[in-house]
Amino acid sequence: MCGIVGYIGKNARAYDVLIDGLKRLEYRGYDSAGVCLVGEHVTKTFRSVGKVAALEEKIGESDACAKAGIAHTRWATHGKPCMKNAHPHSSGKIHLVHNGIIENYQQLKDELTQKGYRFTSDTDSEVVAHLIAEENTTADFEEAVYNALSRIRGAYALVICHEDEPEKMIAVRNSSPLVLGIAEDAYILASDASAIVQHTNRVIYLDDGELVIVTPEKHKITNLRGKTKRKKEHALEWTEDEAQKEGHEHFMHKEIHEQPRAVEDAVRGRMMIDEGLARLGGLREVEDRLRAMKRIVIVSCGTSYCAGLVGEYMLEEYAGIPTEVEYASEFRYRKPLIDDCTAVIAISQSGETADTLAAIREAKNKGGLTLGIVNAVGSTIARETDAGVYNHAGPEIGVASTKAFTSQLAILALLTVYLGRQRNMSMTMGRRILTELKRIPQKIQHLCDDEKKYQRIAQKYAKYNSMFYLGRKYNFPIAMEGALKIKEIAYIHAEGYASGEMKHGPIALIDKNFPSVIIAPKDSVYDKTLSAIEEVIARSGRVIAITTKGTKEVERIADDVIYIPKTVEMLTPLLSVVPLQFLGYYAGVEKGYDVDKPRNLAKSVTVE
Ligand code: G6P
Repeated sequence: MCGIVGYIGKNARAYDVLIDGLKRLEYRGYDSAGVCLVGEHVTKTFRSVGKVAALEEKIGESDACAKAGIAHTRWATHGKPCMKNAHPHSSGKIHLVHNGIIENYQQLKDELTQKGYRFTSDTDSEVVAHLIAEENTTADFEEAVYNALSRIRGAYALVICHEDEPEKMIAVRNSSPLVLGIAEDAYILASDASAIVQHTNRVIYLDDGELVIVTPEKHKITNLRGKTKRKKEHALEWTEDEAQKEGHEHFMHKEIHEQPRAVEDAVRGRMMIDEGLARLGGLREVEDRLRAMKRIVIVSCGTSYCAGLVGEYMLEEYAGIPTEVEYASEFRYRKPLIDDCTAVIAISQSGETADTLAAIREAKNKGGLTLGIVNAVGSTIARETDAGVYNHAGPEIGVASTKAFTSQLAILALLTVYLGRQRNMSMTMGRRILTELKRIPQKIQHLCDDEKKYQRIAQKYAKYNSMFYLGRKYNFPIAMEGALKIKEIAYIHAEGYASGEMKHGPIALIDKNFPSVIIAPKDSVYDKTLSAIEEVIARSGRVIAITTKGTKEVERIADDVIYIPKTVEMLTPLLSVVPLQFLGYYAGVEKGYDVDKPRNLAKSVTVE
């Protein structure tokens, strides 16, 4: 997974647009960066290891006058993150950037090596450059690209240019995202719209198997055999401002604070409180099919997986539908049993996670009804599922997911009411859940107002090497999510566990150097969770408790106490997760880490 950008226009703005685009796509990977500027008489390539800022320093001002160019920010798959593996890759006059994996690269590499092509990198991407160059010996640029594509297998978004044709650029998509932006005087190609939105709001989302030929004046979209296709233009809803930090030190901080609004946007226009009904327009077409569903399988990864676990508890308890949650990466390979009475729901912020996409495709093949809970509008998962609900949380840039998570939970609550009311849920229960859901944004705001307290606690515990995060029932998944946050951002080894399971082994780890964050709101399992706190304290473990006001027992025994407002049990995760996000964030800040771009991680994982 990587970020790619291409620019071709009437004015010499290629450099600025490409570098700015790369910065906005850095969340997709930042192992190395590179740019190729294509001029009428000279083509120059610059590459550097690490983040885009390093590349920028290297180029300087003198080369900033091309009208076309391509650029890349890398998340390594084939070949180490080093200079020689940085994109763009070239072969003679062909230059390209690639996001994805070429599965048959080794076979092609052997063949091309025999023909005398010299490989300078360990990447699979370089094979494509040589293959096009080879085809170009007997065919023109366009023909050469079509011919080369017919020989490669795998996932790719490619932007390709030719030194002899600086006024033409070819881009193609197969299983890796690619968007075409149409500005007044230029075209911009990018892995996602965040690199385009500041130049134009007119976009075309390319689908798999589509290729676009662009010149400064026009574009033509074809399939991989050259047959012209008509595509609809879309208007982007995200504004440029939304993609900026707006005074916050980090995107993650900004996005935690955006949660009241994100939840509000997720439920806006979707609650008919008086009738106790949820209105989900994206599901209208499959409403009757949903009525007949006997089982739900949720597939997702990372933070979205934790949201799925909360969804399982909600859907079984209140909608009465047997529900399972699976890591998308496991689902596909273990021959899951899916039939036409099973709804398979993909939860994905980016809508591009390769594992989740593969799981959805598998479910579709097996005849399941596929649904998406997706934040990125127009993303592949959103387009490939039979129906779905958008989060409307706006762009999430920080690698660690925060506002997308709470908006996913809000949508799962709406879905529970929607499906529950199709079945046995009473109007009173529907009304009760929706009334409480409406109050959640304000309650999240109260939590955000207590930020200083979480900061102090994070500073106190940031020095520990290991921690437990414990919770029961609805807050077990939140224990997992809290642990994931502090792992991702502060590199602290943290285990998210069901508090009742702790006594079956993990408790052996507890001592004064192994603190536990225990989520213990006053809910139906409060007494049981209290026992877990006692067990930890009896073994000299320190406890940070997340609880609701009035739980005197917790106050008495815990080392640090964080309060969350009261709500119905199934919605407590929307509140309890907020202090945990802050704990992860401030522990990372305390340790001096780049919290928006944690090591080894990427925001959108478009490889399996
Ligand atoms: C990556 C990110 C996580 C995210 C996961 C799933 O691993 O680092 O923050 O939760 O992908 O992403 P998705 O876009 O499918 O929700």
